[in-house]
Amino acid sequence: MTNVPPSPTTAPLPRIIQGGMGVAISDWGLAQAVSRTGQLGVVSGTGIDNVLVRRLQDGDPGGHVRRALAHYPDQDAAAAALKTYFLPEGRAPEQPYKRVPLPSIANHRTAWNLAVMGGFVEVWLAREGHDNPVGVNLLTKLQMHTLPSLYGAVLAGVDTVIMGAGIPREIPGVLDNFARGLPGSVRLDVKGAEGSGPLLTFDPAEYGFGGVTLARPKFYPIVTSHVLAGVLARKASGSIEGFIIEGPTAGGHNAPPRGQVTYDELGQPVYGERDVADLGEMRKLGLPFWLAGSYGSPEAMQSALDQGAAGVQLGTLFAFCADSGMRDELRTRVQRRAHEDRLTVFTDPLASPTGFPFKVAQLPGTLAEEELYQARTRICDIGYLREAAEVEGKVVLRCPAEPVDAFLSKGGKLESTVGRKCLCNALMADAGYAQIQKGGLMELPLVTSGDSIADVPKWPEGYSAADVIETLLAGVRGAALSV
Ligand SMILES: Cc1cc2nc3c(=O)[nH]c(=O)nc-3n(C[C@H](O)[C@H](O)[C@H](O)COP(=O)(O)O)c2cc1C
Repeated sequence: MTNVPPSPTTAPLPRIIQGGMGVAISDWGLAQAVSRTGQLGVVSGTGIDNVLVRRLQDGDPGGHVRRALAHYPDQDAAAAALKTYFLPEGRAPEQPYKRVPLPSIANHRTAWNLAVMGGFVEVWLAREGHDNPVGVNLLTKLQMHTLPSLYGAVLAGVDTVIMGAGIPREIPGVLDNFARGLPGSVRLDVKGAEGSGPLLTFDPAEYGFGGVTLARPKFYPIVTSHVLAGVLARKASGSIEGFIIEGPTAGGHNAPPRGQVTYDELGQPVYGERDVADLGEMRKLGLPFWLAGSYGSPEAMQSALDQGAAGVQLGTLFAFCADSGMRDELRTRVQRRAHEDRLTVFTDPLASPTGFPFKVAQLPGTLAEEELYQARTRICDIGYLREAAEVEGKVVLRCPAEPVDAFLSKGGKLESTVGRKCLCNALMADAGYAQIQKGGLMELPLVTSGDSIADVPKWPEGYSAADVIETLLAGVRGAALSV
């Protein structure tokens, strides 16, 4: 086993956290660019197993994945992954990607092995060449996939773990265990089950990491309300070091409005006073917090600091900057349309199979176009957003965006399938890893963005992550203290 350097834990708190953006929008390149400035760069651990094997099948341009894998503590596993997936010349033009086998509750060994490796590679690369902290973001709801990616990130010395999209009560304890070399578990939520669901356990020893002790990262849950923050601070399975408080204008998934949901004339959920976290209550918790959702200007950032926040978490501005993992052609189209004031963002209550509202940039040529969405043949070949449900005494995994017959055969309801989009394939396409399906059909992208897309035209085409950070910090009183 090679030694992985411990992560720094005593660095001052960042003023700016670059929010985790899956799939591979906040890739190692973006996170490294941000962390090099002394602010917190965060890689996305979502879908990282497929990202790893797709990069290898594209010939691993620049040799980055192979460079990181050369430092992976289990060299036999790294060699096996290279043998199965690496194509030195890349794929032929019509050649589909070889997929990671879909994990099931009983059998997930291959997928989990690759997820550990993927999490390791992403964090290792983001940390390469500097000593500043790097974070990882994961979605709590993706219970079948979280533990191994998390372990891989911890193995590579990640400094901070940031998780929302669900209530990550079990994660702090998992991090404690992983640091001590012990197994970590989460209980699978099973729809319609009488009792509690099965326990999903990642045991480092079973994956070749027996006896390895590691630095325990900080944990920042993403919450929308001070109430949830209070519950987590009191009842989580281990320590929490801070909070991200995300409002409904933020990019990606949003929490649904509290109480009875109403919709505007376009069909978007309407948020109100009850959806605003009480920062007075947050301050009483005594933990640092960062505000997210349209904080990408010096004025907004100053207001966050004035209200007691340690800083802000930004997504949209970083997603469309030159350092992000978004494929170039897509980023350019987004920027041009935003500059022409022809790009709107729709908070779609149906698009995400999770049932959470999901922000969608209305960009032509993507699945935001109804015709293109309707023309796509449904397939579930990645499976991250599958939910567990109990049907006739058995636990099944199903996705409302999978082929309708398959979903119905697993006890799903027809109305749950309406308007659901395959985010797994679409978000892979956003980052340049579009699958070629049967008949040569290429999966199309679907771009998510916060409402602050309206701020993008204020930046010159080709702006960098460092430009964003420099401009924001220069406009804020006392910000220099943090770097
Ligand atoms: C393209 C994009 C993808 C995102 N993906 C994720 C994600 O995978 N996990 C997550 O917790 N937040 C995700 N977010 C939210 C960001 O991490 C961040 O909290 C949010 O964008 C902040 O608001 P802003 O967009 O107004 O800056 C995403 C945001 C964007 C723009």
